[in-house]
Amino acid sequence: ARTRRYTFNVTMATVTRLCVTKSIPTVNGRFLGPKVVVREGDRLVVQVHNNINNNVTFHWHGVRQLRSGWSDGPSYITQCPIRPGQSYAYDFRIVGQRGTLWWHAHFSWLRATLYGPLLILRRAASLPVPQAPHRGPLMLGAADRRGPNVSDAYTFNGLPGPTYNCSGASDTFKLRVQPGKTYLLRLVNAALNDELFFAVANHTLTVVQADASYVKPFTADTLVISPGQTMDVLLTAAASPSSPAAAFAIAVAPYTNTVGTFDNTTAIAVLEYDGAPQQSALRSLPRPALPLYNDTGAVANFSARFRSLASAQYPAHVPRTVDRRFFFAVGLGADQCQSRVNGTCQGPNGTRFAASMNNVSFTMPRTSLLQAHYQRRYSGVLTANFPAAPPVPFNYTGTPPNNTFVTHGTRVVPLNFNTTVEVVLQDTSILGAESHPLHLHGYDFFVVGQGFGNYDANNDTAKYNLVDPVQRNTISVPTAGWVAIRFVADNPGVWIMHCHLDVHLSWGLAMAWLVNDGPLPNQKLPPPPSDVPRC
Ligand code: C2O
Repeated sequence: ARTRRYTFNVTMATVTRLCVTKSIPTVNGRFLGPKVVVREGDRLVVQVHNNINNNVTFHWHGVRQLRSGWSDGPSYITQCPIRPGQSYAYDFRIVGQRGTLWWHAHFSWLRATLYGPLLILRRAASLPVPQAPHRGPLMLGAADRRGPNVSDAYTFNGLPGPTYNCSGASDTFKLRVQPGKTYLLRLVNAALNDELFFAVANHTLTVVQADASYVKPFTADTLVISPGQTMDVLLTAAASPSSPAAAFAIAVAPYTNTVGTFDNTTAIAVLEYDGAPQQSALRSLPRPALPLYNDTGAVANFSARFRSLASAQYPAHVPRTVDRRFFFAVGLGADQCQSRVNGTCQGPNGTRFAASMNNVSFTMPRTSLLQAHYQRRYSGVLTANFPAAPPVPFNYTGTPPNNTFVTHGTRVVPLNFNTTVEVVLQDTSILGAESHPLHLHGYDFFVVGQGFGNYDANNDTAKYNLVDPVQRNTISVPTAGWVAIRFVADNPGVWIMHCHLDVHLSWGLAMAWLVNDGPLPNQKLPPPPSDVPRC
């Protein structure tokens, strides 16, 4: 194992896309940020210098951070922000994980432009997937300027493609391949607020990894990738029927049930075979057919196809029994209007939008929860009373009850070391059903069940897959449905679980697990590094 060192200088830089020039926060002056490459088992040290006029932190999305919670990155959860002019070194090992993950800022909405790929190369000995040359990573993003669910453009590695007004020659991302060869495409959904469909015209994709875990390979014409999720897929450059153009559109478009305005445009990148004639008419490339923007059935079917490899070399250690069961009602709601954003309360009937789990809207503390936990100074910072179920059960996917005002708090669930946890995440329809990509820090979880309607403990639990459920760090709670996850709390620290639609996180769709130390020396959270930022 090696130590790999990177330096992130956070600076403002001028970037032009679609005829608009803006000054944006960047890492090392470039958008996208640097590609971080490690091999499994390596130690990674990223020295961050904050040179912008704003706080910042960085999160290594999907890295398990075993006993290295001080490097996890979510602001006010595992660290105080790195203030302007300050520095902090993230320092952790990557153990037992391989494939595609990514990194992003974890303060306010800064991850809109502060993100990049994190590739974990596998050891030569571990090859359940045919070795294929890599392409990408292809980071799918969205230039959000006008507010939630309204993007200026969807992007491939920061480029919006040829279909927008003012698209220029340099605005299109091109993926070059040799005819007949098979490639491993690494995909990341880095968009702030959009679940995305992904397809390549005239090509079928074989999914082999999700969130840096192997899955039983399966083929699909269209992928669905939620914000935060990553996917590695095989693509063979042998289009059928073969086309003389030998250039094909790669398309991305949003999946959403949000009523109201959203950007339903399709962004295009190009898959270009070597030897293809120079394409002048990028807009007229063969395009893949994508599902309708609100095709929830297609999304659920796709999500249900994931199975972990569960081989002798990569067994799935699925917890068969559970120590503690939780039921979280997840959704949007209304709040009394106390503070106005841009002069309005944004919500219906003079209320303010809020988002909650079990009716609790998460309040960001003013100091780091991990610091408070390490010093056992909880008073005034957090309360250990996050409810295990909604205070008053209701028909989650039917007509919502009248009084749905949320409560506020920095509430956590304390867990003893090695507790086996099951959480049923139930979507609610209080302000319209909408899917929520839930991301758990510090763990991969097994997705043991999913379905539509209200979760029914009597019937649904019996149908769980405890043999080869997929292991992920982010799962979409389906629109008007539920998903059940299991994990073993073997990583001491404080771990946030939140909706990876950034606007929902800022509305409070989050909670945190406080995992206590185990009895052995190697089951304890080490002390904070000396340079950890103070609040
Ligand atoms: Cu990728 Cu807490 O986030």
